[in-house]
Amino acid sequence: MTGKIIAGVLAPHPPHLVYASNPEQNEPRSEGGWETLRWGYERLRKSLFEHPDKKPDVILVHSPHWMTVLGHHVLGLPHFKGLSVDPIFPHLFRFNYDIKVDVDLSLLIAEEGKNEGLITKVMTNPDFRIDYGAITSCYLTNPDFDIPIVAISSNNSPYYFSNEVGQQQMEKLGRATARAIARSGKRAVLLASNSMSHRHFTTEPEIPEDMSAEHIYHHGQYLWDMEMLKMMREGKSRQLIDCLPEFMDMALAEVKAGALTWMLSALDFPSYKAEVHAYGSVIGTGNAIVEWDHFTNAKGLAGGGK
Ligand SMILES: [Fe+2]
Repeated sequence: MTGKIIAGVLAPHPPHLVYASNPEQNEPRSEGGWETLRWGYERLRKSLFEHPDKKPDVILVHSPHWMTVLGHHVLGLPHFKGLSVDPIFPHLFRFNYDIKVDVDLSLLIAEEGKNEGLITKVMTNPDFRIDYGAITSCYLTNPDFDIPIVAISSNNSPYYFSNEVGQQQMEKLGRATARAIARSGKRAVLLASNSMSHRHFTTEPEIPEDMSAEHIYHHGQYLWDMEMLKMMREGKSRQLIDCLPEFMDMALAEVKAGALTWMLSALDFPSYKAEVHAYGSVIGTGNAIVEWDHFTNAKGLAGGGK
């Protein structure tokens, strides 16, 4: 049976959202906070998991915080366990993870990536520490961690070369991912682990979850985010891709690391409308949880394999 992409999701990873949720795996305790975004993830989970035919076999995540200078890496062992600490917010995120990996699909992505002319590598170090971006997006999408994941690194090309070169790499990686999913016979959800505008405050309130201190960094950042979301909601993903390099420069947008481009390429640049489950700020950065419901809108399609 041919595998299918069930959904693509813009799935931001502020560690604050994990901290605010107080899961037993995270050491710090909080009084809550950032409910709008956390309720958005709740709506996403409902949309992904309530329909029995839609439930995925595997969750793929592309994270900017597993940055690789040479090529595109995938996790290559069936199980990773350890403590992930956010280097900027160690007082908010000290997460004990225990995660299963779909190695078969990882290997197919590495193979198909090579067929696209990309350098790929399979991570087989048992002590490798999974980055907090991947863990946060996966936890917020599926807190039970009962579905295996495939984590993909973000190649450093947009930072070493240019936004455009980085986007080209990610479009190839997206096509390779779609073909690998089709070959796998599995039903996959893709998480682009990116926030949107990324200017942020540099001092923290005494209580990190004090919501009286939380708002977007400034109006210009808000306007950029709204312009991008408008294109998503209108199904203009090709136009969105064309605007991303400028968005990256003007709003320091985290999409620069490539996850959104990878995902939209794997979905073959959908022209149906995406669903915005939530938008909100975290230390001033813009974050949106957006779902492209491929299951409902592109039935029978394997994804973006050309
Ligand atoms: Fe980040």
